[in-house]
Amino acid sequence: MYIAVIGSGYVGLPTACGLASFGNDVVCIDTNKEKLKLLQSGIIPLYEEGLQELYESVKENLKFSGDVSDIKKAELIILAVGTPMSDDGSADLQYIYQATQDIKPYLQNGAIVATKSTVPIGTNDEIERIIDRSDVTVVSMPEFLREGYALQDFFNPDRIIIGTDNISVFNKLRNLYIQHIPSEKIIRTNRRSAELIKYASNAFLATKIQFINEISDLCEKVDADVADVAAGMGLDTRIGRKFLNAGIGYGGSCFPKDTNALEYMANKNGVKLGIVSSTIKGNHDRRFNIAARINKYISDIDGDARVAILGLAFKNGTDDIRYSPAIDIIQNITHNPIYVYDPKAMNNAKNVLGANVIFTKSLKDCVKDADVIAILTEWPDFKELENMTFDKNTVILDYRNILDEAIMRKKPHVTYKRIGQKI
Ligand code: UGA
Repeated sequence: MYIAVIGSGYVGLPTACGLASFGNDVVCIDTNKEKLKLLQSGIIPLYEEGLQELYESVKENLKFSGDVSDIKKAELIILAVGTPMSDDGSADLQYIYQATQDIKPYLQNGAIVATKSTVPIGTNDEIERIIDRSDVTVVSMPEFLREGYALQDFFNPDRIIIGTDNISVFNKLRNLYIQHIPSEKIIRTNRRSAELIKYASNAFLATKIQFINEISDLCEKVDADVADVAAGMGLDTRIGRKFLNAGIGYGGSCFPKDTNALEYMANKNGVKLGIVSSTIKGNHDRRFNIAARINKYISDIDGDARVAILGLAFKNGTDDIRYSPAIDIIQNITHNPIYVYDPKAMNNAKNVLGANVIFTKSLKDCVKDADVIAILTEWPDFKELENMTFDKNTVILDYRNILDEAIMRKKPHVTYKRIGQKI
């Protein structure tokens, strides 16, 4: 199939490369000239494991273009542009509607427009109204890729949701995946249900995280251990262990934006989503609570403390710092200077963090002579701390519970603190 993907971000690029690897001819359109220059010179301008390599292997089938008229030959046009959060919490749909206007003059007869961007219920109805052509079918095909694991999720998805009432269009889209993905994972729903599946899934996962974070707070008061509680709960197959890692709260470009947009949509429809609202507030407050904890440990140090923060990305496996709790936490640490390190997100963070932050070259440089070390992103790289020795008293705040407790507790001069254990 000849496919056009509009948008070359964290969703568009893995999708374009993945579909090209299935043997389709893909053109990926982006209007950002700088980005396009990099892409056309063979450089993937974001960090996603395996993506650069996959791109090298599908180059023959995948072209990048800034000219939207290049969609003319496409039977399928996938919309994968951003839908960022507006000030009122709703999803900002300007890019999706602009992309719709842009493709409209070039859509071939019988084209399928599939929306992968996360869009509020009814957005695809509006896209259909804008296109205003009875031969063109607009489908909701929400994306469930995780950043950092996008290719793993693309090639082994839990499900492919195709939201359309048009059976022949459903079959065409199903055929795109059927040779690579078990057929029972490909399901058809109506368009609005597909739109809502995406929001409900993200809100549910966000709630699961906020739930374990609240249980974690209780553990700290009653001398229980949240890691054990999560392990015990997770063995119940109805609950499952995934997304029960207590930490500093969820971030990223999806959960914060999508929970807010869902709450906004519900309010507009006169429905109260109390659980989602409570998750949003609890998750927001958590980052300030964590900053306060770190400030307390710093103020307990006699003399001028050296403070090291490990992790800037909103999670491991990505260079993305959008709505990263680590960034808010650092901005609320009342200390100068703060030494920071992240394996991938340093460049992005340099644009947002202030003059009190010193960007170090390595984990070792960052934690050198530190009095307080806080781990804010769950990078496996930080497990290197288990092999290090500390010559002076050092408080290590493992706020992602990634280090081996038995090893860390035995280390001379180290006071080791985990999240969800008695403080
Ligand atoms: C999320 C969903 O997991 C994807 O299915 C979805 O496609 C994507 O949003 C999207 O809407 O595009 P992503 O934002 O990449 O993916 O990140 P997650 O892996 O879900 O993590 C989100 C946040 O939750 C991170 O800050 C992470 O550190 C945190 N988290 C995750 C926890 O604090 N504890 C956990 O147990 C799991």
